[in-house]
Amino acid sequence: MNFKEKMLRDNALQGKTIVVTGGGSGLGKAMTTYFLELGANVVITSRNIEKLEKVKAALEEKTGGNVLAVQCDVRHYDQVEAMVKASVERFGTIDVLLNNAAGNFISPTERLSANAFDTIIDIVLKGTKNCTLAFGKHWIKQKETNKVVLNIVTTYAWTGSAYVVPSATAKAGVLAMTRSLAVEWAKYGMRFNAIAPGPFPTKGAWDRLLPGELKEKFDLAKKVPLKRVGEHQELANLAAYLVSDFSSYINGEVITIDGGEWLKGAGQMNLLEAIPEEMWDALEAMIRAKKNKS
Ligand code: HXC
Ligand code: NAP
Repeated sequence: MNFKEKMLRDNALQGKTIVVTGGGSGLGKAMTTYFLELGANVVITSRNIEKLEKVKAALEEKTGGNVLAVQCDVRHYDQVEAMVKASVERFGTIDVLLNNAAGNFISPTERLSANAFDTIIDIVLKGTKNCTLAFGKHWIKQKETNKVVLNIVTTYAWTGSAYVVPSATAKAGVLAMTRSLAVEWAKYGMRFNAIAPGPFPTKGAWDRLLPGELKEKFDLAKKVPLKRVGEHQELANLAAYLVSDFSSYINGEVITIDGGEWLKGAGQMNLLEAIPEEMWDALEAMIRAKKNKS
């Protein structure tokens, strides 16, 4: 066994239908692939229907599963309502909403136009709100229970981060929504959880967060105590568990999967990692000498 292997038993998601926003690329596509392999039906949505149709064909061929591709810009509630309707028409019931779609780019905040800031807030926070509200209302009206909403956030949802302020602001809002609805809508049979990934290389994120030579300049693996970036299958394993019935008692949680990255940045004395092993004898002697004098 190793961390790149598939974790759950065969058919662990048989009979479930899962909607993955932004399911046609990057991490959304990786999670979609694994859900299909575990027997789920999957609805993939994004703005680009040509891309989604290609991914649908490739994944159906690869996994033998059922995929519905629906064009839907999550910023627009009417499009989200139409996506809910199309999903229900095709599969009857929807069991899981995975809010994965996002927009982001690095920029000093003072360079952003009001519209640039809004664009990220609209995709990440308003988009998650639109999908959550539309599916939540649908499930409540239909009196359907045993539903799961899984939100993809980031570790800077709680630490904040310079140079991605709209994204940090929006992800913090998504995390607050996750925890709030975990309590309020539990009575309707819904669970809400979030995953906070550390660095998982994808074209969408890397081209916008590390454009050009920044990719060589900043090796994100070096920021991680485990000294590597994440593998897509690791994230897919966690997501599959959190949308499955095996996690039925987990509600309102955010699970971090980052190799310890954010804690490394947070711990006040973590910078002492730079001290070579051979210096510790001398340092210890200096500290002990001080103690004996006072
Ligand atoms: C400053 C920018 C900009 C930039 C766009 N804008 N790019 N401002 N610096 N690099 C401004 C535009 O000038 C415009 O403002 C406004 O933002 C909207 O831009 P549009 O191009 O019209 O928007 P749109 O076509 O809707 O595209 C949205 C997008 C784009 C977010 C800008 O990058 C996109 O489609 N992204 C989707 C995928 C994505 O971002 N994936 C990465 C997720 S990674 P004005 O004022 O001129 O009208 C992620 C990682 C988290 O979330 C943490 C990792 C560790
Ligand atoms: P990605 O491939 O760029 O994924 C973003 C997806 O969102 C795309 O499929 C995109 O599809 C879709 N999207 C963007 N705007 C949309 C809109 N208005 N309406 C509907 N769909 C929209 O990047 P990724 O790295 O896989 O990111 C996936 C998730 O993981 C995001 O929530 C991101 O914040 C999170 N995350 C990623 C990392 C990482 O290291 N990769 C780390 C932490 C968190 P279209 O362009 O076709 O619309």
